[in-house]
Amino acid sequence: MGSKRRAGPADIITITNEKGGVGKTTISVNLAFYLAQQGYKVLGIDLDGQGNFSSRFVPIAERVGGLRSCHLYMEEMPKYEPLHSPSGVDLIYSLDGDVDLHSIEQSDLSVLTAFAGNIANLCDDYDVIIIDNPPTSGIKMTGSIFVADHIFVPVELAAFAVNGVLSLLDSFARISRATGKEIKPTGFICNKLNTRVDAHKSSLAALRKEVGPLIMRNAMSNRGAVDTAVTQGVAVWDLKNSGAARVAGNEMLLLLEEIAALIGFDVEKWATSAEDSPAEKRPAKQKSAPQKKTLKKPQSNKKEKAK
Ligand SMILES: Nc1ncnc2c1ncn2[C@@H]1O[C@H](COP(=O)(O)OP(=O)(O)OP(=O)(O)O)[C@@H](O)[C@H]1O
Ligand SMILES: [Mg+2]
Repeated sequence: MGSKRRAGPADIITITNEKGGVGKTTISVNLAFYLAQQGYKVLGIDLDGQGNFSSRFVPIAERVGGLRSCHLYMEEMPKYEPLHSPSGVDLIYSLDGDVDLHSIEQSDLSVLTAFAGNIANLCDDYDVIIIDNPPTSGIKMTGSIFVADHIFVPVELAAFAVNGVLSLLDSFARISRATGKEIKPTGFICNKLNTRVDAHKSSLAALRKEVGPLIMRNAMSNRGAVDTAVTQGVAVWDLKNSGAARVAGNEMLLLLEEIAALIGFDVEKWATSAEDSPAEKRPAKQKSAPQKKTLKKPQSNKKEKAK
């Protein structure tokens, strides 16, 4: 794993929504597993003081030493390394109930200069940095959006989902004005979708009206296997214990392939049609580094990074 290096600094992907429970951590975790399994060098950063993202990679008992996400806001960041996880994803972690990380919200905006500089320094060591965010607007979310090359927004299509998206777009506009950088979401991901529920159908139609072309073609349905995989700390497509798990895995792979294409990452296609096992198209030894391939350059929406 981690041998399919690209030229240039890492692409920074942030997964955000001010609304809680919409699937930010689920998508972040699966995207990190996916790109690591595809052979990229991945750094995951947990900006949510609940520590959910971190716990999927490294259990709390082993989250000691190493770089913590609260350190990223320091002008003189300690010279620790990110933790290495068995999945191949490196981690800048939060504790579970991380008081130091929560307290960053009481700092003034100047900590964001340190944050942007520290993130830029990490970019040379990775192909991609994936940032999971807390369900609040504030300093941490502002910083992660500011440094991001790509912003993905999971949306749960329940009642008021569109109001939440409009409020998020307001926050993006505010951050654009405050930082002078144009903040544009890359994609909205419909999660826990059930098109047989009327509220979901009308909510999807309303969302289409607001952000139509930015809605990802591949949505995630509400599937128990997604929850099971998150709980077990494995990728959804690595749960092969039932037909339902394989369908959920395939759905997640289709979404991740779409994300990879949008951000200009070259990936092997592992998704199949819904009836087949996603495992069948994948190499027998998934965790080894894939064959060397020609890598695409990132698309033109990649921004100049603050150094
Ligand atoms: N497509 C899905 N089908 C079924 N369950 C899902 C799906 N996506 C996420 N979940 C479950 O929903 C819950 C919330 O998901 P998750 O923790 O990813 O949301 P979040 O946006 O990160 O929440 P928070 O705002 O608290 O950080 C979790 O239990 C997760 O396993
Ligand atoms: Mg979360």
